[in-house]
Amino acid sequence: MGTVTAAEEARAVEQARARLTEAGVWDVEGDVAALADRFLGGRRPERSLARFEAAVTERCARIPLGHITGSVTFDGLELLVGSGVFVPREESTPLVEWAAGEKTLPHGGRVLDLCSGVGALGLALSARRGDAEVVCVERDDTAVQYLRRNAARHADVLGSVQVRAADLTEPDCLAAHRGVTDLVVANPPYVAPHIRLLPEWADHQPSAALYSGEDGLDLIRRIAVLAAEVLRPDGRLALEHDRAQPDAVQQTLADGPFTDISTFADTAGEPRITVARFTGRGETS
Ligand SMILES: C[S@@+](CC[C@H](N)C(=O)[O-])C[C@H]1O[C@@H](n2cnc3c(N)ncnc32)[C@H](O)[C@@H]1O
Repeated sequence: MGTVTAAEEARAVEQARARLTEAGVWDVEGDVAALADRFLGGRRPERSLARFEAAVTERCARIPLGHITGSVTFDGLELLVGSGVFVPREESTPLVEWAAGEKTLPHGGRVLDLCSGVGALGLALSARRGDAEVVCVERDDTAVQYLRRNAARHADVLGSVQVRAADLTEPDCLAAHRGVTDLVVANPPYVAPHIRLLPEWADHQPSAALYSGEDGLDLIRRIAVLAAEVLRPDGRLALEHDRAQPDAVQQTLADGPFTDISTFADTAGEPRITVARFTGRGETS
């Protein structure tokens, strides 16, 4: 095996740029940089060059970048991801910032992260608020495995984190948390089936992580019911949803025992995070 010269690497990077542009990915420079960082250089450059080109081929097939590199950074935490799990989106971080505020979450508060996937919201919140007790609830076996690994990897910077495998559509799935929870956060599936998604989502992420009924809101409605069961009076709820859904989500919450309902933007400026305060059982706003 001969060594790879800097000129050969530069040529491979240039070809990658052209191939990714042709494939229609939206952040060619970011993807090239991430793939070069992960696969080029190192002690066996010949193999690295071949691996880099294979990785570019995968990205041209619109496999999500995180599935190719094996990790994604969310709110400063490097989270392990892979085929079969939803890749956390950095755009969700304003939800974590809101949730971590002292006005939202009292000292030592109890948090449920519902539909936690590989753990983005719950682990990031725990890293910011080590005093909180966080329980992450996820149904999918593969996601739960990644979630446990991510919690273990970052144990040194996290507070109390428990991982529970559970299906939120099951009756009494959160019975143990009834009336004692200070904050519920959730980025559940919410895509309506008529929405056309980019191939990274439509073809390569689990459909159970994306879709939820005819209008996409089945699980959000279920979470509103569950939140009213588990929250203590004055407890808070934060939901991520589609940019077309703020009115529907706000109405769902206003129809239940929630008040102080508002929607704010994710980091892309889209109105995708709705928060509310639980008034208490039997009361409506
Ligand atoms: C959009 S992904 C979000 C994951 C994570 N919250 C994040 O922000 O990266 C939705 C997650 O909900 C999980 N999920 C879907 N239906 C569920 C159910 N009935 N009970 C529990 N989890 C569910 C999926 O497996 C998936 O991991």
